Amino acid sequence: FRIAVFASGSGSNFQAIIDHIQEKKLDLSIELLVCDKPGAKVIERAEIANIPVFAFRPKEYVSREAYEQEIVKELQKKQIDLIVLAGYMRLVTDTLVKPYYGKMINIHPSLLPSFPGLDAIGQAYEYGVKVTGVTVHFVDNGMDTGPIINQESVIIEESDTLEQLENNIHKVEHRIYSEVIDWIAEGRVQLQDRKVNVLPQKV
Ligand code: GRF
Repeated sequence: FRIAVFASGSGSNFQAIIDHIQEKKLDLSIELLVCDKPGAKVIERAEIANIPVFAFRPKEYVSREAYEQEIVKELQKKQIDLIVLAGYMRLVTDTLVKPYYGKMINIHPSLLPSFPGLDAIGQAYEYGVKVTGVTVHFVDNGMDTGPIINQESVIIEESDTLEQLENNIHKVEHRIYSEVIDWIAEGRVQLQDRKVNVLPQKV
């Protein structure tokens, strides 16, 4: 089962997936990192783990569609089964969504549909909600709008600083993203319209 990860920044989720695959010795492999920021830390992580990188500068292309076409070529060359967006800070268009709908997932640090978009953790903290969390969903061409696969809540204690909340959210992210990837690789995730069914594990 062949995975491509798209990321723009530090890549702690990317690292968690690498570590998970190594520990569990599953039949999964990350075949490609796609990165729109050639200086990002996530690229170093890929190099250390020997994962091929496709890094590009969006400004060097005439449109979003133009660089996405290049990405699709890379994905096809490597016969990618699943695209995992892990802090990829760009909207995707139909160029990617059409061929990969149901095969592209994203993680978002809030309980969607609350707090979509940038700085979801800060948004929730400022709003003063008592419960927030993490969402893993299939990607469509909206911003954080696709069908939800899994969510986990995180309680905000009154004594929590924003930094503590960020740590708590990231811990949950690093655990549940790998879980969802396993479910998909095992063929247990079914998508019907907007609803997602997760079949029980085979024994
Ligand atoms: C994560 O909080 C993820 O939910 C969001 O961007 C952040 C990426 O962090 N979409 P990292 O690069 O994986 O450390």
